[in-house]
Amino acid sequence: VGSPVVLGIESSCDETGAGLVREGRLLGHAVASSMADHARFGGVVPEIAARAHVHSFTPVVHEALDRAGLRMTDIGAVAVTTGPGLSGALHVGLAGAKTLAYSLGVPLYGVHHLAGHVAADTLEHGPLPDPCTVLIVSGGHTSLLLVRDLARDPIVHLGDTVDDAAGECFDKAARVLGLPYPGGPAVDRAARDGDPRAVAFPRPLTGPRDSRHDFSFSGLKAAAARWAERHRVRGAEVPVADGAAALQEAVADVLTRKAVAACREYGVGTLVVVGGVAANSRVRALAAERCRAAGVALRVPPPRLCTDNGAMIAAVGDLLVRAGAEPAPLDVSIDPSAPL
Ligand code: KG4
Ligand code: ZN
Repeated sequence: VGSPVVLGIESSCDETGAGLVREGRLLGHAVASSMADHARFGGVVPEIAARAHVHSFTPVVHEALDRAGLRMTDIGAVAVTTGPGLSGALHVGLAGAKTLAYSLGVPLYGVHHLAGHVAADTLEHGPLPDPCTVLIVSGGHTSLLLVRDLARDPIVHLGDTVDDAAGECFDKAARVLGLPYPGGPAVDRAARDGDPRAVAFPRPLTGPRDSRHDFSFSGLKAAAARWAERHRVRGAEVPVADGAAALQEAVADVLTRKAVAACREYGVGTLVVVGGVAANSRVRALAAERCRAAGVALRVPPPRLCTDNGAMIAAVGDLLVRAGAEPAPLDVSIDPSAPL
């Protein structure tokens, strides 16, 4: 009989995602983003995101099925993000997932969004070793996690950002440097021609008395703004490439230093880095360098699986199904601030 095809639904923020996974294998997925609709507001507008999910839900599910060469009736289980995320956005995905599960007569599984990000890597590199340390870095998250068995054990939350996410820091710093949106890729490109030692930007929360596993990035944005302003008041041109390189170095340094230190502290042999910021060239290079020096194996999934998608939710659903986990009742609710 084998295990069923699991449909995963993601709608916690501005991406509507649907993915199909069976026995750890990605069969097909599709993502629609409402990012462009939020651009003129400078951030995700919850009401607009929720409405976009209503429009995208059905087309995205059909597109994922088409790409997998499957039909609706091939779906054997449905997994859906229940939180954390924007409540209106989560409601749309959950309502759609419940409707599908009920009408197809298949079990429904609620999935924690961060567990999805972690599981994304299994679709590329196979089962995760137990334990592993995971660094999730995107525009919305900066979390350091200790993961054992995704289907059975709760994830241990080691630390988080106390203010801005790492991606948010790149996006805001790009703005003060006069670089285009989205800022992360623009900083990455500009940094190629810069000197990372040109500016001594701070390394927040790395002092001996600071939280070992928490992050802070709002001060870096302010430091970049002050640095750019010092040039402008003199009527001098801002050396943008140097600023970008130095800022990127500061973020990459703090992220990789703390992630590798957590591996050492807990005796963990594998670090997984996921999220949009995992695409950053300096974050990748420094993570590789420091992992090699610490004897830690590094896993980074491809960018399309790093950003929000339905395949990662299906991946968790597939693990739950195969572990014999109890399905969610049809009156399961969203949990916008779900703890791990
Ligand atoms: O995971 P993601 O696509 O979306 C969510 O935040 O959910 O992450 C987007 C973030 C943005 O802040 C973007 O600027 C950043 O990831 N990003 C990068 C790079 N590519 C994307 N940051 C630094 N360097 C990059 N190459
Ligand atoms: Zn996410």
